[in-house]
Formats: sequence, C-alpha cells, structure tokens
Amino acid sequence: MDLVDALRAVVGPAHVLVDPEVRAGYERDWTGRFGGPAFAVVRPASTEEVAGVVRACASAGAAIVPQGGNTGLVGAGVPRGGEVVLSTVRLNQIGAVDPALGVVEAGAGVTLAALQAATRPAGFDPGVDFGARDSCTLGGMVACDAGGARALRHGTTRARVAGLAGVLADGTVVSRMAGLAKDNAGYDLPATLIGSEGTLAIVTRVLWKLVPRLDARVAALVPLRSVEDAATLLAALRAHAPSLESCDFFLDEGLSLVLDHQRRELPLAARAAVYVLAECAARTDPTEELASALSDAGVDDTLVADDTPGRERLWALREGHTEAINAAGVPHKMDVGIPLAALGRFLDEAPRVVADAARGARTILFGHLGDGNVHVNVLGPDPADERADDAVLALTLACGGTISAEHGVGVAKARWLERARGAGEVAAMRALKAALDPHGLLNPGAVLLARELDILPPPRGCSSVG
Ligand code: FAD
Ligand code: MLT
Ligand code: ZN
Repeated sequence: MDLVDALRAVVGPAHVLVDPEVRAGYERDWTGRFGGPAFAVVRPASTEEVAGVVRACASAGAAIVPQGGNTGLVGAGVPRGGEVVLSTVRLNQIGAVDPALGVVEAGAGVTLAALQAATRPAGFDPGVDFGARDSCTLGGMVACDAGGARALRHGTTRARVAGLAGVLADGTVVSRMAGLAKDNAGYDLPATLIGSEGTLAIVTRVLWKLVPRLDARVAALVPLRSVEDAATLLAALRAHAPSLESCDFFLDEGLSLVLDHQRRELPLAARAAVYVLAECAARTDPTEELASALSDAGVDDTLVADDTPGRERLWALREGHTEAINAAGVPHKMDVGIPLAALGRFLDEAPRVVADAARGARTILFGHLGDGNVHVNVLGPDPADERADDAVLALTLACGGTISAEHGVGVAKARWLERARGAGEVAAMRALKAALDPHGLLNPGAVLLARELDILPPPRGCSSVG
C-alpha cells in the first residue's frame, strides 16, 4: 500500500487531499512569504486518527507539518516541499465548561473565537485574545505559546493550559487531561510541548484554564510625544489601575497605513509620535482607576471608550496593522522582546539598521508595550533577502532582547536560534528532539535548523500524486 492509500484507510478518502487546487489553500502562509508544495493534506477527526496518520507517515518515512488555522507568522505551519500537511480542522469539538474548576476541554482545531463564544455565556473567558481569533486554533496557540494583548494580565497560552493530549512522532498517544492543580509525577511533558511549534508532538486536545469574564471595560487611546512618555504612562497604569488588562502601542507611520487601509479619519485632534492603547477590565466600572493613572502620568489628551463598539473602533486601529501591512506588500515580520529600559534605543535604531541593510525598505513598528514586545515589519526586500531581518535580530540581541516574544522561531528565525540561546542550550534542544523524534519527521527545519539527521528523502509514493 502506498502512503496515500494508507492515509485514506485511516481518515477516509474524502479527507486526504491530493488535488493541487484543493491543496493550495494549505500551502502558503498568511503573509505570503513562506510555503511550498505538500505531498498531501490529511484531516483526521480524532486523536486515534492522528496517531494512525503519524504511524502511516512514519512507516513511509514521510515528514509531517501540523497545521491549525494557518495564521502563524514564522513560516512553520506550511510545507516547504513534499511534506504531509496534517490539518487539525476536524478536531473541533468543545466540551461543557466545568465551573468549579474553571476549565473546558476542547479539540486542537477549535478556533479561539469558538472558545470565546462557548465560554463567555458561562461567565468565563479564555484570557487570551488577538486579531487572528476567527481562524487561529488552540493547537496552534499551544504550539506557538501565543501571547496577544491580554498576556499582560493573564499570561501567554502557557498559563492557560491545564492539560494536553497529543501524539508523538512514533504514533504514541500521550495524555495528561485530569486537570490536577498539583501533579509532580515525573517530567512535565505538557510544559515541554508548549511552544515546540509542532516539532515534538501533535497536540490533539487541550484542557483550557479559563479566567472570569469581566464586562466592565474601558479603553483609552493616548497620543504621546515619545517612548519615554509611554513608559511613564505604563508605570502609572501599573501603580493606579490593578484592572489593567492590556497596554499596546503603535507609531505614527503605522497609524497612517491603517487609516488609509481602513479609509478612516484620525479620531484624535492631532498626530503624535507614539500612541498607547490601554484597556482596563473589572467587575465594576474601572474608569476612575484609568483616569487616575492618566492624570498621574500628566496626560491631558486622550480618547476614551467604555462601550463595546467604541472600544472595538479603537482596537481596530491597533489590530488593523497586520492586515494593512499585508495589503502593502509581503512583509518580513520580526517579533522581538526588548527590555523596557532599551525600548527607546531599539525603536530609534531599528528603522536605521533596516535602511542600511535594505535601501528603500519601510519599517513599521508596533506591539505590546506592557510586555516589551515589538512587532518589526519590514516592507520592500524580496521574501528571500534576509539582510534586514539579520540587522533587526542583531540589534535585538545587542539590546538584551529575545528574537521571538510570541510568534515562535519557525523557519523564519531558525538560523538565529544558536546565536540567541547559545550552543549549549541548542545542543540540549537537539538532544530532546532526537529523543522524541529520532527520524526528524515532525516539522523538520522548524525551530532547529535541518541537519543531517533531519534531512529526509522525499516520502515514498510522492511521485504518484498531483
Ligand atoms: P498555524 O499557523 O496553523 O501553525 C503555527 C505553528 O503551530 C506551526 O509550527 C504548526 O506546525 C504548529 N501547530 C499548529 N497546530 C498544531 C497542533 N495541533 N499540534 C502541534 N503543532 C501545531 N500571535 C500572537 O502570539 N499574538 C498575537 O497578538 C497575534 N496576532 C495575530 C494577528 C493576526 C492578524 C495574525 C494573522 C496572526 C497573529 N498571531 C499572533 C500569530 C498566530 O495567529 C498565532 O501564532 C497562532 O497561535 C497560530 O495558530 P494557528 O492555529 O493559525 O497555527
Ligand atoms: C499583533 O500583535 O497584532 C500580532 O502579533 C500580529 C503581528 O505581529 O502582525
Ligand atoms: Zn502581537
């Protein structure tokens, strides 16, 4: 039996996609920068089917790229050339909320928006939120340890995982779904899988730790002269507003791009260098806390919204950056973390180092101020020209930062991992990868650069398809 027949035997013929036109939607990433042909796309509907798919691929020596909503921004959720794409779209069941434990069990293919819709009526919230909510999946969020604007208060996805089930590279099913708050028996395998970007296991189910739903919300868009003023405002918000949930920022050039793209007018009296968008959330109206923080920071001009449509209009200016940038070209996206003390230097120097590396390139900066998380977007260079990326990542390390804050390493930054983490740590990561996936079948080339062990021959039976 060749691989296609073996996959069809596991998931049924309708869920093994080999037609190039049908495969195409799974083969290119959200930015348009990364992708390649898949051998086939396979869509299992249960953990057992995922295990069957993995076993079939393992015996054929075929590499697998796990894919959820394909909103990842580091190129690791799409094939690079001949892999089997394992799509989790059919792992989409959501259980009932357990109100006593504050958890819900859901399939890895459930979208963030679906989890929000399922848990909010029960008085809970997933505690993580970001612009890709309608498409990104829980499995993808776990695999990337996704962050978003609310990580400031509730942590990244890691903090929301109470249990995981998944499939290892040889088809073994591992499951720790009891949701015990205290469980020290052995190594914390789920913790190792979080953030592993599909290179150590395929996540099939998640026990998600919810937070209380907070309906009294107020957001403020604050125009400021400088990053130093933004840091002062952040300190005042931390001191005066325990209800602070998010504190994001963007700059004037990004705002212009968004306003043009959304065909909107500036909602403020005047332009500024830096804009902070902060949101407080509580059981009772947090407006006074927010006002006290703004006053302490000496802010006199601000746009406040305490109703949902008004807050959404403000957040559209911040979240709209990703789409507006994509509409302007194929971006090079660097998601870095910078210590707050070096943020001014980084934001000042980043456009300069990019311009030196790639003449005529445009640099758009925005991100999650409270986490020191800067999204550096460069428009202009060819997708394969990495000189601007290298310049930004070198500056990041010089500032004491990290090359990946929330999007992951993927294939986009694998070349930089050793420089960022050091040879010793990367050797330990390779040892872990070799122990769990000795034949390098799971997402080869993501996180760790492909080397001898990871480079596979094309899957057997490849030539018989599409
Ligand atoms: P995919 O893109 O399908 O895959 C991403 C990675 O996870 C790949 O390495 C893939 O192999 C792996 N993977 C997917 N599913 C599984 C699984 N079940 N088991 C094992 N590995 C798996 N990210 C943030 O952190 N914060 C943000 O604020 C944010 N905002 C965004 C806004 C927009 C408009 C867009 C397009 C993206 C944004 N992202 C953000 C990035 C992206 O949405 C997240 O990384 C998200 O977690 C990816 O989920 P996904 O289901 O789309 O994963
Ligand atoms: C965001 O915060 O909007 C995202 O992480 C997406 C991006 O970086 O474009
Ligand atoms: Zn982000």
